[in-house]
Amino acid sequence: MDFSLSEEQLMIRDAARDFARTELLPGVIERDNHQKFPTEQVKKMGELGFLGMMVDPKYGGGGMDTVSYVLVMEELSKIDASCSVIVSVNNSLVCYGLQAYGNEEQKQKYLTKLATGEKLGAFCLSEPEAGSDATSQRTTAIDKGDHYILNGTKNWITNGGSADYYLVIAQTDKEKKHKGINAFIVEKGWEGFEIGPKEDKLGIRGSDTHSLIFNDVKVPKENRIGEDGFGFTFAMKTLSGGRIGIAAQALGIAAGAYDLAREYSKVRKAFGTEICNHQAIAFKLADMHTSIEAARHLVMKAAWDKDQGNNYDMSGAMAKLYASQVAMDVTVEAVQVHGGNGYVKEYHVERLMRDAKITQIYEGTSEIQKIVISRGLLRD
Ligand code: CAA
Repeated sequence: MDFSLSEEQLMIRDAARDFARTELLPGVIERDNHQKFPTEQVKKMGELGFLGMMVDPKYGGGGMDTVSYVLVMEELSKIDASCSVIVSVNNSLVCYGLQAYGNEEQKQKYLTKLATGEKLGAFCLSEPEAGSDATSQRTTAIDKGDHYILNGTKNWITNGGSADYYLVIAQTDKEKKHKGINAFIVEKGWEGFEIGPKEDKLGIRGSDTHSLIFNDVKVPKENRIGEDGFGFTFAMKTLSGGRIGIAAQALGIAAGAYDLAREYSKVRKAFGTEICNHQAIAFKLADMHTSIEAARHLVMKAAWDKDQGNNYDMSGAMAKLYASQVAMDVTVEAVQVHGGNGYVKEYHVERLMRDAKITQIYEGTSEIQKIVISRGLLRD
């Protein structure tokens, strides 16, 4: 069994590490304080190829593997999880969804611009009453021959205000339940498409999260993704890969908090010595590091499964379930290691602790991951 990374994977990881330290770190507290979207940073990430990493180069992407993608997600998330969720949604949900299931015209028209970062994407599944229960879509798309008429509201949409293209899941035929659901590409600015107010969030405050309102929006039929009724499968398959990206985000948040705690423990003195010399702290570091390594193995296994063409529904769900719990546990401990300073913004760990929580909620709560895992276990 070979756990080593290739030269290329190491290079992309180091490029992301460097970028995060030089470009993301300087303004991260200010963006968090003011809920400021990282416009400049997103532009630079597009130029570096971080927004369409796994997309085929013929559509403007980097043609990289999922292992490279999770390495980048981990490095960005160590410093700024608001930036990494923007990267995650654009790569795993929007670009992947279009690359895997879009037709050639859709790829030429939309994917090429999303993969280069010229345009940004959003994935719109959740609704006021359909977060976990994704089959209960209330947004409707009524078939009118050459177009659909879209009506409804979506909630908690990452990149909601900043995106240009939106993948919207809607119910076309209620009688058919999940088989009557479709996915559509909707462009910002279309008549009847309104962006609701920005949510004031606990964490990932630099990313923008909005509700979206569709009021008789005319969507051309050529903007439906896949065959009629494919929308729920599209959402589930896309989310399976998305969960690997969020697992890597959770891993990065944990690793970032651990790095800060370890460094702090080597300089902060109490009872006549650096606090890392007290077992109370050294044992915390040992536990944190061990759980992070375990999470990293699960994340890498899920990414590897995807790259090998194996089914990754379960391994992605396990990686997200475990890494998000590790993110919570480790960030809480990192604050504890910092003592009073941990409660102060300039030390970064309180932000990482706030950011960690969302990894247990979006792209399926921890409870949803357990549903996916247990159904996988009991299927045979
Ligand atoms: N791949 C392909 N098909 C799948 C699938 C998958 N991974 N998972 C389910 N399906 C199919 C099933 O086979 C079934 O099809 P058939 O009836 O034809 O066999 C159909 O979908 C319905 O499946 P279930 O009966 O299992 O559906 P369910 O209602 O019990 O729900 C669920 C399954 C896993 C709980 C699903 O609803 C789910 O994943 N919910 C969470 C949704 C979610 O992650 N939301 C996050 C929003 S996006 C987001 O957060 C993005 C962001 O902004 C960061």
